[in-house]
Amino acid sequence: MRYAHIIGWGKYVPERVLTNADLEKMVNTSDEWIRTRTGIRERRIAANPEDTTATMAVRAARKALNMAGVQPGQLDLIIVATSSPEHIFPATACLVQNALGASKAGAFDLSAACSGFVYALAMAHAVIASGQAEYVLVIGSETLSRITDWKDRNTCVLFGDGAGALLLRASDQPGGILSTVLGSDGSGGDLLIVPAGGSRLPTSPETVAQGMHYIKMDGREVFRFATRVMAKATQEVVAKAGLKLQDVNLVIPHQANERIIHSSMSALKMTPEKVFINLDRYGNTSAASIPIALCEAIETGRVRPNDNLVFVGFGAGLTWAAAAVKWGVPPPAKPLSWWRRLQIALQGPWASLRSWMLRLGRRLYALIPGYAGESLYLPISRTRESPPAAPARSAPSEETQPGGEG
Ligand code: UT7
Repeated sequence: MRYAHIIGWGKYVPERVLTNADLEKMVNTSDEWIRTRTGIRERRIAANPEDTTATMAVRAARKALNMAGVQPGQLDLIIVATSSPEHIFPATACLVQNALGASKAGAFDLSAACSGFVYALAMAHAVIASGQAEYVLVIGSETLSRITDWKDRNTCVLFGDGAGALLLRASDQPGGILSTVLGSDGSGGDLLIVPAGGSRLPTSPETVAQGMHYIKMDGREVFRFATRVMAKATQEVVAKAGLKLQDVNLVIPHQANERIIHSSMSALKMTPEKVFINLDRYGNTSAASIPIALCEAIETGRVRPNDNLVFVGFGAGLTWAAAAVKWGVPPPAKPLSWWRRLQIALQGPWASLRSWMLRLGRRLYALIPGYAGESLYLPISRTRESPPAAPARSAPSEETQPGGEG
C-alpha cells in the first residue's frame, strides 16, 4: 500500500491590503454589510504587476519545497488549481515548473474553481497511490482581482488574491490523505461564471464593453448550494476514511463566507474550535483559500501530529470536494545549515539560467542548415499537398451550455 503524506507547505499573499472602508469609497456598500453578510474585513490584492498567479504560486511552492528539504528536480508532478490562470494556454503549472527548475516534472492546471485545490489533492493522491509519482506539488493560486468587476458590489467585496502550496511524498507508512470525495452539478454552471474570453464567447470589443470578462454570480443560489454540499461532502469523506465526525480534530473549509461555514458546520454539530476560519483577513481566495488557511492553522498551533483534518470546498461548476487527512509531520525544529541555505538561495538563479539556456538552445538549433521544423517529422506530401480540412461550423450543443439540461 502506498500513502501520500503532506511533507511541506507554504503560502504567499500580496502586500496590498484592501479594507472594507476602502471598498466603501469604490461602490455603494458598507463595512457593516460586508462584515455581517460575509465575515470579511479585508483582503489582499495583487496591486503590484509582478504578483501574478504564477509568481505567487512559485513563492508558495519554494517555501513548501525548502521546508521539506526537497529539490525542485525531485518533483514528478506539479498541479496548479486556478480559475485565474496566466493564459488560456500554456498552463500556469508549466510556468511554475520552469521558474522552479523542476526538470523532470509533468505539469498541468486544474480547473474546478474554488473546489480546485481539493480536486488537485485528490489527483495527487491518486498518482502517488498508483505508483506513478514519488513527489507531487499541489498549488492553489489566484489573482481574482484581475477578473473582478470593481463596479459590481455583488462580487467585488468577496474576493482576494494569494497562493498556497503543499508538497506530497509517497510513503509506505499509513497516514496522509485518507479519503477524498469529488462532486459536480453542471446544471448550475451559469450561477457563477466568467461568460467571455473562452471559445464560446471569444473576447471582442462588445464583450469587453459589456464587462463579460468579469465574474458574474447569483450569490443567493450559490449560498444555498454551498450550505447543502459542505455538510454532505464532509460527512461522506469522514465515513469513507473509516472515521466518525467526533474523530475530526479540525475542519479547514473553503473560506467564502462565515455564514456558509457556520451553517454547514453547525448542521454537523461541529463546535467552532473544530473549524478554522481566516477569511476575515483574506476574503475568498478561491482555489488558494484552503492551503492558505492550512498554513495559518499550522503556524498558529491548531494542527498537531496525528490530528484528523478535513478540507472541504465548493465552487463554480458547480463543484464540491472534500479530503480527510491524518496529519503526520511536526513543523521542522532545527535551523537550516549554511550549505542548505546557500542551496536554497541559488535555486532561483539556477532555474532562470536553466530556462535561458533551454531557450538559447532552441534558437541555435533552429539556425542549423536544413532544419525545417515540423517538416522533419511530417511526410512532404502531407505538408505541401493536403492541408487539413477546415472544421465545419456548428451551433454550440445544448450539453455544453452552462446551465443546460443535458
Ligand atoms: O467560492 C464561491 C464564491 N461564491 C460565494 O461564496 C457566494 C455565496 N453567496 C454569498 O456569500 C451571499 O449570497 C452574498 C454575500 C453574496 C450575498 O449575501 P445575501 O445575504 O445572500 O444577500 P442577497 O444576495 O440576498 O442581497 C441582499 C441585498 C440585495 O439588495 P435588495 O435586492 O434586497 O435590495 C443586494 O443588492 O444586499 C444587496 N447587496 C449589497 N448591499 C451592500 C449585495 N451586495 C451588496 C454589498 N453592499 N456589497
